[in-house]
Amino acid sequence: MKNGLKLSLVLISIFLFSCSKKSELQTTVSSPDDHVKVEFKLTEKGEPTYLVTFKNKEVIKTSTLGGFDLKDMASFKDNFEIVNATTSNFNEVWEMPWGEQTKVENNYKELKIELQEKADLKRELTIVFRVYNDGLGFRYEFPEQENLSEVIITDENTQFNLSGNHTVWWAPGDWDIYEHLYNTTKFTEIDALSKVNYPNIAQTYIPQNAVNTPVTMKTEEGLYLSFHEAALVDYSDMTLKIDKENLAMASELVGSERTGYKVKRAVPFHTPWRTLQIAEKPGDLIESKLIVNLNEPNKLGDVFWFKPTKYTGIWWELHLGKSTWGIGSGKHGATTANTKAFIDFSAKNNIGAVLVEGWNNGWDPNEGGFDYVTPYPDYDLKEVVRYGKEKGVEIIMHHETFGNVENYIKQQDTAYALMQSLGIHSVKTGYVSKLMPKGEYHHGQFMVNHYNNSIEKAAKYQVAINAHEPIKDTGLRRTYPNTISREGLRGQEYNVWDSQGGNPPEHLSVMAFTRMLAGPIDYTPGIFDIKFDKYKKDNQVNTTIAQQLALYVVIYSPIQMAADLMENYEGNPAFQFIKDVGVDWQTTKVLNGEIGDFVTIARKERKSENWFVGGITDENAREMDLKFDFLSPDATYEAVIYEDGKEADWDKNPTAINIRKMEINHQTSLKLKLAPGGGFAISIIKK
Ligand code: NOJ
Ligand code: CA
Repeated sequence: MKNGLKLSLVLISIFLFSCSKKSELQTTVSSPDDHVKVEFKLTEKGEPTYLVTFKNKEVIKTSTLGGFDLKDMASFKDNFEIVNATTSNFNEVWEMPWGEQTKVENNYKELKIELQEKADLKRELTIVFRVYNDGLGFRYEFPEQENLSEVIITDENTQFNLSGNHTVWWAPGDWDIYEHLYNTTKFTEIDALSKVNYPNIAQTYIPQNAVNTPVTMKTEEGLYLSFHEAALVDYSDMTLKIDKENLAMASELVGSERTGYKVKRAVPFHTPWRTLQIAEKPGDLIESKLIVNLNEPNKLGDVFWFKPTKYTGIWWELHLGKSTWGIGSGKHGATTANTKAFIDFSAKNNIGAVLVEGWNNGWDPNEGGFDYVTPYPDYDLKEVVRYGKEKGVEIIMHHETFGNVENYIKQQDTAYALMQSLGIHSVKTGYVSKLMPKGEYHHGQFMVNHYNNSIEKAAKYQVAINAHEPIKDTGLRRTYPNTISREGLRGQEYNVWDSQGGNPPEHLSVMAFTRMLAGPIDYTPGIFDIKFDKYKKDNQVNTTIAQQLALYVVIYSPIQMAADLMENYEGNPAFQFIKDVGVDWQTTKVLNGEIGDFVTIARKERKSENWFVGGITDENAREMDLKFDFLSPDATYEAVIYEDGKEADWDKNPTAINIRKMEINHQTSLKLKLAPGGGFAISIIKK
């Protein structure tokens, strides 16, 4: 062989080798439908960055990843080289034990980038992207390695550089509570700090102009985006710092005054997923299962002991002041007799459970704090449970902590063991106020772990948890299906005592596209006595009664309260809807919606062929054409329509409701009129 030929063969093979090496190191990945694309790159300084496009248009402009500031150690942010990059595909269908639908498709493409620092410690970091048709998640993995056995994170600096000055639905990035109203502004007008002194929130800490997640946006081109996180485990809650000038957000983890850092972890570990849901229609955000898909499969097996249910309870009467949690007032709510009355009422009305708040010692001062096993003398716990069983109604336990978490932790085993011995399978917990261990915030790593440990502990005693003043939902219900519901928003209770007028009429048409993307909400709908003047003249619910019915369908939760006083339901024909409506669904379809304006959702019950539809509007009246093409083509149904009455209005005439029946099929279309602050609910029973 001639030398020249030899040389060119060598050159060709080097070229081919470098191509194959390059193609091995593919650093982009697209969703299964190719619409969402992520490009990973190292900058010249060796800083990891990513860029996201949707249908070839930038959604996230080049943004830096990670940038971990560490205590007693150099920052972990640049001077990286790529050691390896791999892509893979994943496709499965899993079943929700209870939920908005039975089957969930989990189909994504993954890109895994293994990085190593070029100098000094040669520390390693892996970044994993999972790209779905409805968005993406990425997380940082700290693999086992020689020079890193533990990290103390003082800051994570993940950037999200936006492609424009979007319209944003945001709530302040409070480290202690999520019970703020969402605001609607342009990105450059976000001003979370102006919400710091919200008067009704005892504990609130907003250190800077940052927002909480989910934060939802609409671009000028009409694309919808929602930023959140999935699988928040042994880490601290991520708020997003606002940089108006650069149209950028960056992660700001909740801290701790006690420890002075944000997260402490032994290596190996990984962070929660940072998520972005992308949709062309706002309703697709609600139908997206990205957050649960990014969580690990069920670790508990069959949670047969928890069944989705409607419930009543000794609750609204406490907030109205008709009765009290403690016994000192002489108006104690949680008596044996009152609970039995709720059990009778529930049994009669197809409602499976009764929540009893104020049953245990500790509500009044000088009782030495909460005790989770000792009932007040006028409450016979064993007897109400026995009576409930006889009537087929479960008791829901209540554990308020007043933020005294150490006191609760000490008693959790005994408290859950008591529940198990009685056959009580769910508890509503509460973290009002702020004792914690001193210096901790509700959303820091310590409390994240507390909320998660409670779930794991409770599962051992066959107990499911509905947490109020919770950590935000990040889809852990997939892994621990005893995570049934939570608050984490301004619930119905604000309508009773808020000095600023409660939740405005648009509240839930914002919540459906923001907070609800995180997971189930214990909103406690169903208030019929909208003005409750007998108890509180200056407050009211700011919706019509028809909207209260619609919420059983619009707001998803496997436990739904019929929250009003029994006397307000007795004899009211609208109550029939609450009796009939399902709580566990085969299918969910968002029929229409615009964020903060209106939304209509149809859900098909799991145990029957019946459908339920709920639609709500904000403060504006609206007309809607509804098609029923989602119904089975070979069936006819009886529909009962609960709609706003002619002159209905959330303020002037909130209880005007019209109820009509008609036969419908998949070809029917219907014109519906929604009053200001109104809505409608339809039960569709297969004939
Ligand atoms: C706040 C909860 O949100 C509410 O539902 C409960 O009644 C009170 N705490 C008392 O525990
Ligand atoms: Ca609350």
